[in-house]
Amino acid sequence: MGTEIEVLNGDASWQTAEPLLNEVWPSHIVEKLAWGHIKWANADLRVLIEAPSGRPACHVGIYFRTITWNGRKLHVGGIGGVATREDCRRLGYASFALEAATETIRANEAARFALLFCEPHNFAFYRARGWHPFSGEVYVEQPEGRIRFDVMAPFVLDIARAPRRGTLDLCGLPW
Ligand SMILES: CC(C)(COP(=O)(O)OP(=O)(O)OC[C@H]1O[C@@H](n2cnc3c(N)ncnc32)[C@H](O)[C@@H]1OP(=O)(O)O)[C@@H](O)C(=O)NCCC(=O)NCCS
Repeated sequence: MGTEIEVLNGDASWQTAEPLLNEVWPSHIVEKLAWGHIKWANADLRVLIEAPSGRPACHVGIYFRTITWNGRKLHVGGIGGVATREDCRRLGYASFALEAATETIRANEAARFALLFCEPHNFAFYRARGWHPFSGEVYVEQPEGRIRFDVMAPFVLDIARAPRRGTLDLCGLPW
């Protein structure tokens, strides 16, 4: 048995992804984090890597959304829920899954750039993979209404050139 990578429908693959995501982000830890109260969007697609043992080892969610940048509508690809099971880290799985996810976004011809949100300890990981910090403001929808989203830092990946500053409105839940 080898390592397998698949890009799957987000809803259909949720059952496979859920135990892995709960292991990486247990609810009793998440609820104490700055972003623990955030309601997240569901992924449209998921990249899943199965380790040779047969267990899911790595997950990357893909989101397609028409957002606005300085009031202008743009279609983008989102990346979220990047997670590798602890005993499978530093084997290149997240790099491989991220590459598959960005290739999937590039294959969607309408997507102008890719966008993700991360914490400071992962900045170097994404910078090393071609992502750039976005230094403007980000707004998202939450059950209580539209809010400024500043609990994680936005990073963008060029497809056409991605904006580096300005105001992004995700016009929906964040990812
Ligand atoms: C961040 C995270 C997804 C990385 O997953 P991973 O599968 O270990 O990532 P990779 O193996 O592709 O790369 C990790 C590092 O190991 C290195 N690496 C990759 N293969 C390696 C190998 N065979 N031997 C040694 N090092 C290796 C990579 O170069 C990378 O180093 P860098 O950060 O200095 O560039 C994982 O640590 C994780 O799930 N963290 C908790 C959740 C989280 O923070 N997610 C990100 C949300 S934005």
